[in-house]
Amino acid sequence: MLMMKDIIMDGHPTLRLRAKPVVLPLGKEDLATIRSMMAYIENSQNDDIAEQYGLRPAVGLAAPQINQSKAMFCMKTWDEDYEKEFKLAVVNPKIISYSEEQTYVPGGEGCLSVDESITGLVKRSKRIKARVHLVDLESGKTTEKVIKLSGFPGIVFQHEYDHLLGVMFVDKMAELLPSIKPIEFKVMQTEMAE
Ligand code: NI
Repeated sequence: MLMMKDIIMDGHPTLRLRAKPVVLPLGKEDLATIRSMMAYIENSQNDDIAEQYGLRPAVGLAAPQINQSKAMFCMKTWDEDYEKEFKLAVVNPKIISYSEEQTYVPGGEGCLSVDESITGLVKRSKRIKARVHLVDLESGKTTEKVIKLSGFPGIVFQHEYDHLLGVMFVDKMAELLPSIKPIEFKVMQTEMAE
Protein backbone atom coordinates (compact mmCIF):
# COMPACT_ATOMS: atom_id res chain seq x y z
CA MET A 1 0.00 0.00 0.00
CA LEU A 2 1.39 3.37 -1.01
CA MET A 3 1.84 5.86 1.83
CA MET A 4 2.79 9.51 1.99
CA LYS A 5 6.42 8.48 2.58
CA ASP A 6 6.46 6.88 -0.89
CA ILE A 7 5.66 10.20 -2.54
CA ILE A 8 8.66 12.33 -3.47
CA MET A 9 8.60 16.08 -3.02
CA ASP A 10 9.41 19.03 -5.27
CA GLY A 11 13.18 19.37 -5.35
CA HIS A 12 13.65 15.65 -6.07
CA PRO A 13 15.30 15.30 -9.50
CA THR A 14 12.92 12.58 -10.76
CA LEU A 15 10.07 15.11 -10.75
CA ARG A 16 12.00 17.14 -13.33
CA LEU A 17 12.65 14.34 -15.81
CA ARG A 18 10.68 13.63 -18.94
CA ALA A 19 9.06 10.27 -18.14
CA LYS A 20 9.98 7.32 -20.37
CA PRO A 21 7.33 5.62 -22.48
CA VAL A 22 5.90 2.48 -20.91
CA VAL A 23 6.50 -0.77 -22.80
CA LEU A 24 3.27 -2.37 -23.98
CA PRO A 25 1.73 -4.84 -23.46
CA LEU A 26 1.97 -3.85 -19.84
CA GLY A 27 4.42 -5.86 -17.75
CA LYS A 28 3.53 -7.27 -14.34
CA GLU A 29 5.53 -4.67 -12.44
CA ASP A 30 4.06 -1.72 -14.27
CA LEU A 31 0.56 -3.08 -13.78
CA ALA A 32 1.24 -3.50 -10.05
CA THR A 33 2.48 0.10 -9.92
CA ILE A 34 -0.60 1.43 -11.69
CA ARG A 35 -2.89 -0.55 -9.40
CA SER A 36 -1.08 0.79 -6.35
CA MET A 37 -1.41 4.36 -7.62
CA MET A 38 -5.16 3.99 -8.13
CA ALA A 39 -5.42 2.32 -4.72
CA TYR A 40 -3.68 5.31 -3.14
CA ILE A 41 -6.20 7.68 -4.71
CA GLU A 42 -9.16 5.58 -3.63
CA ASN A 43 -7.81 5.08 -0.11
CA SER A 44 -7.11 8.79 0.18
CA GLN A 45 -10.70 9.58 -0.75
CA ASN A 46 -12.01 7.33 2.01
CA ASP A 47 -12.09 9.49 5.14
CA ASP A 48 -11.55 6.61 7.57
CA ILE A 49 -8.64 5.05 5.68
CA ALA A 50 -7.11 8.46 4.95
CA GLU A 51 -7.19 9.36 8.62
CA GLN A 52 -5.90 6.00 9.78
CA TYR A 53 -2.88 6.07 7.47
CA GLY A 54 -2.36 9.83 7.25
CA LEU A 55 -3.03 10.03 3.52
CA ARG A 56 -3.49 13.40 1.87
CA PRO A 57 -6.66 13.29 -0.25
CA ALA A 58 -5.89 13.20 -3.97
CA VAL A 59 -7.68 13.04 -7.30
CA GLY A 60 -4.59 12.10 -9.30
CA LEU A 61 -1.15 10.56 -8.99
CA ALA A 62 1.57 10.21 -11.61
CA ALA A 63 4.34 7.59 -11.59
CA PRO A 64 7.17 10.17 -11.28
CA GLN A 65 5.65 11.17 -7.93
CA ILE A 66 6.51 7.73 -6.60
CA ASN A 67 9.99 8.03 -8.11
CA GLN A 68 9.29 6.03 -11.26
CA SER A 69 10.05 8.03 -14.35
CA LYS A 70 7.47 6.31 -16.55
CA ALA A 71 4.66 7.79 -18.61
CA MET A 72 1.71 6.63 -16.58
CA PHE A 73 -0.77 8.16 -14.16
CA CYS A 74 -4.10 7.53 -12.49
CA MET A 75 -6.92 9.91 -11.79
CA LYS A 76 -10.27 9.53 -10.11
CA THR A 77 -12.56 12.48 -9.94
CA TRP A 78 -15.94 13.88 -10.89
CA ASP A 79 -17.13 16.57 -13.22
CA GLU A 80 -18.15 19.89 -11.67
CA ASP A 81 -21.81 18.85 -11.62
CA TYR A 82 -20.94 15.68 -9.71
CA GLU A 83 -22.75 13.65 -12.34
CA LYS A 84 -20.04 11.66 -14.01
CA GLU A 85 -17.06 9.91 -12.50
CA PHE A 86 -13.75 9.89 -14.34
CA LYS A 87 -11.64 6.99 -13.19
CA LEU A 88 -8.76 6.59 -15.59
CA ALA A 89 -5.52 4.62 -15.53
CA VAL A 90 -3.50 6.17 -18.32
CA VAL A 91 -0.33 5.01 -20.08
CA ASN A 92 1.72 6.86 -22.73
CA PRO A 93 -0.68 9.78 -23.13
CA LYS A 94 -0.30 12.49 -25.76
CA ILE A 95 -2.50 15.58 -25.71
CA ILE A 96 -3.30 16.17 -29.37
CA SER A 97 -5.43 19.28 -29.10
CA TYR A 98 -6.09 22.07 -26.65
CA SER A 99 -9.03 24.47 -26.76
CA GLU A 100 -8.16 28.10 -27.04
CA GLU A 101 -10.64 28.78 -24.26
CA GLN A 102 -8.99 28.59 -20.87
CA THR A 103 -10.13 28.04 -17.32
CA TYR A 104 -8.79 27.31 -13.85
CA VAL A 105 -9.72 25.83 -10.49
CA PRO A 106 -10.95 28.82 -8.46
CA GLY A 107 -9.50 27.51 -5.18
CA GLY A 108 -6.18 26.77 -6.85
CA GLU A 109 -4.43 23.50 -7.59
CA GLY A 110 -2.47 21.48 -5.09
CA CYS A 111 -0.09 18.57 -5.47
CA LEU A 112 0.97 15.66 -3.29
CA SER A 113 4.56 16.48 -4.20
CA VAL A 114 4.25 20.06 -3.00
CA ASP A 115 3.71 21.14 0.59
CA GLU A 116 0.06 21.17 1.57
CA SER A 117 0.21 24.86 2.41
CA ILE A 118 0.90 25.78 -1.23
CA THR A 119 -1.94 26.13 -3.71
CA GLY A 120 -2.06 28.30 -6.78
CA LEU A 121 -4.15 29.37 -9.72
CA VAL A 122 -3.05 27.67 -12.93
CA LYS A 123 -4.24 28.50 -16.41
CA ARG A 124 -5.47 25.35 -18.17
CA SER A 125 -7.25 24.62 -21.42
CA LYS A 126 -10.97 24.23 -20.96
CA ARG A 127 -11.09 21.23 -23.28
CA ILE A 128 -8.46 18.78 -24.40
CA LYS A 129 -8.27 15.82 -26.69
CA ALA A 130 -5.70 13.13 -25.92
CA ARG A 131 -4.50 9.87 -27.38
CA VAL A 132 -4.03 7.42 -24.51
CA HIS A 133 -3.70 3.78 -23.64
CA LEU A 134 -6.31 3.11 -20.99
CA VAL A 135 -5.55 0.29 -18.58
CA ASP A 136 -8.18 -2.17 -17.42
CA LEU A 137 -7.03 -2.55 -13.83
CA GLU A 138 -8.52 -6.04 -13.52
CA SER A 139 -7.01 -7.70 -16.56
CA GLY A 140 -4.09 -5.36 -17.20
CA LYS A 141 -5.13 -5.06 -20.84
CA THR A 142 -4.69 -1.70 -22.51
CA THR A 143 -6.88 -0.08 -25.13
CA GLU A 144 -5.72 2.77 -27.33
CA LYS A 145 -8.27 5.56 -27.45
CA VAL A 146 -8.74 9.20 -28.22
CA ILE A 147 -10.54 10.82 -25.30
CA LYS A 148 -12.02 14.26 -24.82
CA LEU A 149 -12.09 15.87 -21.40
CA SER A 150 -13.32 19.24 -20.27
CA GLY A 151 -13.62 21.24 -17.09
CA PHE A 152 -12.28 19.74 -13.88
CA PRO A 153 -11.40 16.24 -15.18
CA GLY A 154 -9.57 17.95 -18.06
CA ILE A 155 -7.62 20.07 -15.58
CA VAL A 156 -6.65 17.02 -13.52
CA PHE A 157 -5.51 15.28 -16.71
CA GLN A 158 -3.38 18.30 -17.69
CA HIS A 159 -1.84 18.46 -14.20
CA GLU A 160 -0.86 14.76 -14.31
CA TYR A 161 0.34 15.06 -17.91
CA ASP A 162 2.63 17.89 -16.81
CA HIS A 163 4.21 15.53 -14.26
CA LEU A 164 5.25 13.28 -17.15
CA LEU A 165 6.98 16.26 -18.76
CA GLY A 166 8.79 17.23 -15.57
CA VAL A 167 6.58 20.25 -15.03
CA MET A 168 5.08 21.16 -11.65
CA PHE A 169 2.05 23.37 -11.07
CA VAL A 170 4.16 25.73 -8.98
CA ASP A 171 6.06 26.63 -12.19
CA LYS A 172 2.84 27.97 -13.68
CA MET A 173 1.15 29.62 -10.71
CA ALA A 174 -0.46 33.02 -11.13
CA GLU A 175 -1.79 35.33 -8.44
CA LEU A 176 -4.80 36.42 -10.43
CA LEU A 177 -6.33 35.36 -13.71
CA PRO A 178 -8.74 38.23 -14.25
CA SER A 179 -9.51 37.60 -17.93
CA ILE A 180 -10.34 33.90 -17.55
CA LYS A 181 -13.51 32.29 -16.23
CA PRO A 182 -12.89 29.65 -13.55
CA ILE A 183 -14.74 26.35 -13.52
CA GLU A 184 -17.76 26.28 -11.26
CA PHE A 185 -18.44 23.41 -8.92
CA LYS A 186 -22.12 22.74 -8.48
CA VAL A 187 -21.32 20.63 -5.46
CA MET A 188 -18.56 21.95 -3.25
CA GLN A 189 -15.62 19.59 -3.28
CA THR A 190 -13.13 19.37 -0.49
CA GLU A 191 -9.53 20.33 -1.12
CA MET A 192 -7.79 17.61 -3.07
CA ALA A 193 -4.29 17.41 -4.42
CA GLU A 194 -3.16 15.96 -7.72
NI1 NI B 1 0.76 16.90 -8.78
